[in-house]
Amino acid sequence: MVDPIDKKIVEIREKAKLFSKKQYFEVIDREAMGIKSKEVLKRIIEYEGWTSCGWILFDAPPVIDRGEGAILWDVDGNRYIDLMAGFGVESVGHANQIILDTIVEQFKKSSHFAELPNELRANLAEEVSKLAPGPSKKKVHFTITGSDAVENALKIARYYTGRPDILTFFGTYHGRSFGVASATSFANVKYHFWPLTARFGVLHVPYAYCYRCMFGKEYPDCNLFCAKFVEDLFTSTAYTLRWPEKGVNNVAAILTEPTQGAMGCIIPPREWLSEIKKIAEKYDVLLIDDEVYGGWGRTGKWWACQHSNVDPDIISTSKAIGSGIPFSLVLTREEIADSLPVNMVHSTMSGYHLGCAVALATIRIIKENNLVERSAELGEYFLKGLKDLQASHELVGHVDGLGLWLRIELVKDRKSKEPAKEEAKIVQKRCMKNGVLFMIEGYYGNVIKIHPPLVIEKEQIDESIQVIDKELKYVEENM
Ligand SMILES: Cc1ncc(COP(=O)(O)O)c(C=O)c1O
Repeated sequence: MVDPIDKKIVEIREKAKLFSKKQYFEVIDREAMGIKSKEVLKRIIEYEGWTSCGWILFDAPPVIDRGEGAILWDVDGNRYIDLMAGFGVESVGHANQIILDTIVEQFKKSSHFAELPNELRANLAEEVSKLAPGPSKKKVHFTITGSDAVENALKIARYYTGRPDILTFFGTYHGRSFGVASATSFANVKYHFWPLTARFGVLHVPYAYCYRCMFGKEYPDCNLFCAKFVEDLFTSTAYTLRWPEKGVNNVAAILTEPTQGAMGCIIPPREWLSEIKKIAEKYDVLLIDDEVYGGWGRTGKWWACQHSNVDPDIISTSKAIGSGIPFSLVLTREEIADSLPVNMVHSTMSGYHLGCAVALATIRIIKENNLVERSAELGEYFLKGLKDLQASHELVGHVDGLGLWLRIELVKDRKSKEPAKEEAKIVQKRCMKNGVLFMIEGYYGNVIKIHPPLVIEKEQIDESIQVIDKELKYVEENM
């Protein structure tokens, strides 16, 4: 039998109430991975405030001390295979020697000198512009975090089109700062702070989440009904996006993730994004492609939108390009960039020397080690292992993958698809105790998300699958 306290923890979380300090301490005493971990977690609760997402991802989050490649060790010396890559940041592997040398060498010269021009930033802009997807030339605007990049993408779209509205999708995650929180549909991002600044300018519609289609359709018989629904919004007078007879079009951009990250690595049919792009073009609105999570080789191509052969008007990106230091940027088509006023995209630290040097080193590592191709190849290998798991575990309702971007969706019953949320949490905890670290997220909190560093070894993939297999079996036999 699964310990009822495990269930209790899930129930308590379910209520979305903040724990009291006493409750946190009880969970830490029970769940922490060792004595030192306990001590650190308690000090965090004592002094940091428990608003960070670690406390929602894990009962007692692992306290990481160091890493190497795709392996992590916590402060108690426990080893983990990292299937999280720090939310997709550590693509070139933990403690990468080239990144380390770059940081040391660059810091000896300079780390930052206001947001003024410098050669590194010219080199990086040229490199990224040449790597950008699609035939149209793109220019780079430097920012700091993922949220910052999306904020600026939205501001640029509004400025360029002179229009207020943004159409986006349920389940896409675009960050938590005040503006982009409006574009993120998650309850936990926005409902504590309601109303948000851009509340009236954002419309959310269903994403192409085919396993749980919001329209109750089946792919491919649906004929991409969800994309047609988007088009309907532009043509029907029942909506307010556009009023062609009066020459009114209020929409600046359609904003989307090419694959939905935070909501469970959801991979739409390849032609969905190209349909959305066609709609954007037809109704003269921009397409903003948020590749903060899915860019830089993660899905087996440099950019996730390349799977759909789409040339976005604007791209926001971050995470992996900084290899562990904060860095982000926005790419726009040249004519958009050339229409913007001076000093529109600016932050004290944007385009800082150290960040540019690390981003250039990251691109070099990805190229020299063929990490994009490696992601495609190992992703296929990993997905085959997940399909075997699906064949042998009723609990596994759906698996999918695109490069090293994979998902396992757990269900209580394959027919009803009732989400197996408690089971997912318990599988996660038991895998962590057995040295495999991943996140559980998804619309219903029942998806195992897998996106390891792109340098993960085949043997580490095999070991991960073995551990997940064993713990799925345990939960199936005991719950
Ligand atoms: C697609 C996407 N956009 C934007 C963000 C926000 O990035 P940051 O957390 O760096 O602000 C994230 C973060 O996970 C993301 O996944």
